[in-house]
Amino acid sequence: MKIKYYGHSCFGVHIGGKNILFDPFITHNPLAKDIDITAIEADYIFLSHGHQDHMADALAIAGRTNAMIVGIWEICEWAGRHGHTNNHPMNIGGFWTFDFGTVQMVKAVHSSSFPDGTYAGQPAGFVISGDEKTFYYSGDTALTLDMQLIPERHNINFAFLPIGSNFTMDVTDAVTAAKFIRCNHIIGMHYDTFGYITIDHNEAVNRFNQAGKLLTLMTIGQTLDI
Ligand code: NI
Ligand code: MN
Repeated sequence: MKIKYYGHSCFGVHIGGKNILFDPFITHNPLAKDIDITAIEADYIFLSHGHQDHMADALAIAGRTNAMIVGIWEICEWAGRHGHTNNHPMNIGGFWTFDFGTVQMVKAVHSSSFPDGTYAGQPAGFVISGDEKTFYYSGDTALTLDMQLIPERHNINFAFLPIGSNFTMDVTDAVTAAKFIRCNHIIGMHYDTFGYITIDHNEAVNRFNQAGKLLTLMTIGQTLDI
């Protein structure tokens, strides 16, 4: 499985021969200025919630690639209203098997509205199984006891968790989240993009180390084989 980091909470994951893009926020992210969104391949675009820093580039990339947008019902309705018809709506707790693997939409504790202020449904995370691996993409969330339900149903091999605090979990809570989901390899997201969420990288990595866990902080543009 190949993972490419596009900054903030945006990752491309190559799984089951397909390219899945999560939460594209690139053209408005000064840290991602070297990423060319017209070169990003996407068969699917997963959107965790309606905030601008998770979907600002979704329609542009979906329009060019005709990627299927996967998100909660209201997100897919919104995409449809904006002329994108290749959408797969889900809701919290539901499973669906796609051509690359199986997805469960899981709960996130956050808020969700579109940039124009309209309702975007509930925020969500995704558990994705394919290529003999299972991973959790939490989206923006606080630490929540609901995470303990995830390993009741899934063996999580690695997880994308926010660590920047202020809008989401901080590093300390993300370590606890990793324990809740029984996962030893976390890829950090939602840090450094804005002044509110800058973190000390060494301290974050050490905090996970002390708990016997690995925190990977990818460089924007970097590809990871996992
Ligand atoms: Ni958000
Ligand atoms: Mn966010």
